[in-house]
Amino acid sequence: MPGPATYFDPARSGELDPRTRDLVERRQRVLGPAYRLFYEHPLELVRGQGTSVWDSDGVEYLDAYNNVPSVGHSHPRVVAAMAAQAATLNTHTRYLHEPTIRYAEDLLGTLPAQVGTVMFTCTGSEANDLALRIAKHATGATGVIVTSNAYHGVTTEIAAISPSLGGAESVADAVRLVPVGPSASTSLERGVREAIASLAAAGIRPAALIVDTIFASDGVLPDVAGFAGAVEAVRAAGGLFIADEVQPGFGRLGTGLWGFDRYGVVPDLVTVGKPMGNGQPIAAVLARPELLEDFGRSVRYFNTFGGSSVSIAAAQATLDVVRDEGLIANAAGVGGRLLASLVELAGRHEVVGEPRGVGLFIGVPLVDSATTLTVVNALRERRVLLSASGPGNDVLKIRPPLCFSDGDAARLVGALDAALAGV
Ligand SMILES: Cc1ncc(COP(=O)(O)O)c(C=O)c1O
Repeated sequence: MPGPATYFDPARSGELDPRTRDLVERRQRVLGPAYRLFYEHPLELVRGQGTSVWDSDGVEYLDAYNNVPSVGHSHPRVVAAMAAQAATLNTHTRYLHEPTIRYAEDLLGTLPAQVGTVMFTCTGSEANDLALRIAKHATGATGVIVTSNAYHGVTTEIAAISPSLGGAESVADAVRLVPVGPSASTSLERGVREAIASLAAAGIRPAALIVDTIFASDGVLPDVAGFAGAVEAVRAAGGLFIADEVQPGFGRLGTGLWGFDRYGVVPDLVTVGKPMGNGQPIAAVLARPELLEDFGRSVRYFNTFGGSSVSIAAAQATLDVVRDEGLIANAAGVGGRLLASLVELAGRHEVVGEPRGVGLFIGVPLVDSATTLTVVNALRERRVLLSASGPGNDVLKIRPPLCFSDGDAARLVGALDAALAGV
C-alpha cells in the first residue's frame, strides 16, 4: 500500500495538461472519491513490456514498483497460455479440469510437506479472509494478532485487521497490534507475548498471528527479530500462524519462493496472490490438511472466478517462467547489487537513511515524508516509477518485476542520485 504522501491531490487538477485534466475529472465523477492516483502529475499508461511501461504520448518509463507483472509486463509465454485457454474453455472449479489439479500439485510441491491443500480465490483479500475463517473455525478462538501498520486487504473482516487503513482505532476489538522495526531491539516475539496476555486479560484466545513476511506496509523489514519465537508463542497459546506471502511470495526475495522460509518456520496457513498469475486475478490459501477436515465438512466452498481455467493457465505459465528464466537467482543477484549501490548512494546524501531489503524488495528510508513525496515525483519526471511505504510514508519502496536487469538497476540509481541532488 502506498502512503498518502504519494497520491495526486484532486484540488490541483487545474494545473494539469488538458487531456490529463479531462481524464482525472471524468474519473472522479464516475469512480467517486475513494480511489487515489499516484503522482502530482498522474500517469496514463497504455502499454508494458518487461520492465518498461509507456504513457499515452509514447514516453517510456522504467517500472521499479510493480510486483504483480512479476515475470515482466505482457510476458509472451503467459499471454500465449491465457489466450490459448480463453479460446478453448474458461470455466470454474465445479468441473474436473486436469490442469487445475496439476497446477495445485506443482504449487504445493514448492511448500513444506506439512502444507498440503490449496483453495483458490481471486484476490489476496479473499485469501486472507478465508484463511482467517479457517483459523477461527479450527481453533474455536477469535483473537487476531497483526503488526502495527499491517495491510492484509479490503473485506470487512480483513480491513478490521489492517491498521494501515485507519489506524489503531479502526481495528476490531479482538485484534492486537504489535510493533515491528528495522532494529533488533524490537522483538516480534516480545510483542506477540504481550498481545496474547492483553487478549487473555479480555477473556479472548488467539486464533491467529498473521504477518506479511517482508513487512511491506511496516516499511519493508527484511530481518525482524524474534520471528520464530513469535510463531512458537502463538501456537503455545492455541493459535495458528498465517504467513501472508501476497507481497514477498513467488521468488521476489531471491531465496526460494517463500518469505517464511527465511525464518525457518513452517506456517499453518499461507496466503498468496498478486504475482501469482502475472496480472490475471488469482490468489490462494495453502493449508495444513488437518485444518480443513471439519471446516470442509461444515462449509461448502465455491468461488465463481477463483481458479478458473484461464487463471490457472496464467498461474502455471508464470510459475514455469519463474523457474525457466532463473528469476529467483536474478532477484538475488540484481537485488543484492542494487542494494549495495543504494548503500553507497546513501553515504553521499544526507537525507537518505540506511537502505534495507532482500532480493528485489528494497526500502530506502528518507528523512521525512515531504522529502519522500518530492523524490517519488522527481523520479516520475525522470521516467522511473516507484512509491513510498512505512507508517510515516518516508521509505522509498523498490519492488520491480523480477526480470529487472543490472542496467535497469543502474538507471534507477542514476535517476535517484539526480533526484536527490535536486532536493
Ligand atoms: C500483504 C498484503 N496482503 C494482502 C493484500 C490484498 O491483496 P488484494 O489487493 O489482491 O486483495 C495486499 C495488497 O496490497 C498486501 O499487500
